[in-house]
Amino acid sequence: MSATVITNIATLVTNDPSLRDSDPLGLVRDAAVVVEGDRVVWTGESSKAPPTDNRVDAGGRAVLPGFVDSHSHLVFAGDRTEEFNARMSGRPYSAGGIRTTVAATRAASDAELEGNLTRHLAEALRQGTTTFETKSGYGLTVEDEARALRIAAARTDEVTYLGAHIVAPEFADDPAGYVALVTGEMLNACAPHARWIDVFCEKGAFDGDQARAILTAGKAKGLHPRIHANQLSYGPGVQLAVELDAASADHCTHLTDADVDALASGATVATLLPGAEFSTRAAWPDARRLLDAGVTVALSTDCNPGSSFTSSVPFCIALAVRDMGMTPDEAVWAATAGGAAALRRTDVGRLVPGAYADLVMLDAPSHVHLAYRPGVPLVTSVWRRGVREV
Ligand code: NIG
Ligand code: FE
Repeated sequence: MSATVITNIATLVTNDPSLRDSDPLGLVRDAAVVVEGDRVVWTGESSKAPPTDNRVDAGGRAVLPGFVDSHSHLVFAGDRTEEFNARMSGRPYSAGGIRTTVAATRAASDAELEGNLTRHLAEALRQGTTTFETKSGYGLTVEDEARALRIAAARTDEVTYLGAHIVAPEFADDPAGYVALVTGEMLNACAPHARWIDVFCEKGAFDGDQARAILTAGKAKGLHPRIHANQLSYGPGVQLAVELDAASADHCTHLTDADVDALASGATVATLLPGAEFSTRAAWPDARRLLDAGVTVALSTDCNPGSSFTSSVPFCIALAVRDMGMTPDEAVWAATAGGAAALRRTDVGRLVPGAYADLVMLDAPSHVHLAYRPGVPLVTSVWRRGVREV
């Protein structure tokens, strides 16, 4: 197998955990990376790089791991432009808007859903995302949820069953009946297509007891939990996530001290989704408070047509630095290694020998420019599994 060296890298972010004590990002200056097949086989200073057949000159640009977007909702049809427009004139966001997308998604053909998903994944890849998680949750019938997961599983590595996004409209007067469906027939149909189970634990969606029943049923079927928790209000979701060893509690916008303590003492990652606060004009989650308490923080887009219609991880990094108290280094770590931790993966989100060769090159000398130059399309090249895609 022929190897390729990418050399003349001004700043290389490795996220090498063995360097984490001295430098969380494991930065190497004047660096090189050697790729063989789909893997990284060597990283270090350019002058020490081993001989290879092929050579790419980075021209003094920065290279970092591809972004790991551990939270998105990309199997959907239609859009919610009008809802967004009304919100920007003062109407508040609520879980109820999800129903609009459920109706459009149910009415869509497979080809339409596949086309939308493929387009959004390509859009994310162009902006440097090389690992994508995506969820069901806009079908809310046995057939429509299973269909969404089949479509997602054919195109993404990380698939999440979110039958418990909201109570399906047909069950408006019988939420217990809907929970029985989500934990019974729908779970049976969906489990073969998913790795994860998620629930929107929030007023207007599912309460703590319902969320516990849903996630526990999923665990019994071999799915691992992750939770939409504490997005719009304080609630039981975050502590439930830690109790059930969920890989991630997502949103974490309204947290008590007890919530922060629980996250700090458990293995659950706090995934922050600033695109949602941006697009709903809500208060920002306090990343600084979580980091200072020792919580592992991930940053993701939450890309969905309602609350956060952005596929741009660089945009989320810029928001997290400007408004959530993160340093540029912390935000870049959270969007790469943090996302990997939220998916319990060690083969992505870092550039160390043995990891997948998922790399982003910026038209800038360092990763700090992702926050320093907000809104500028800095991603010039993207390799995924050793293949140059952009
Ligand atoms: O993560 N919070 C629940 N789900 C999505 C919003 C979905 C929608 O509004 O369509 C979120 O923000
Ligand atoms: Fe979400």
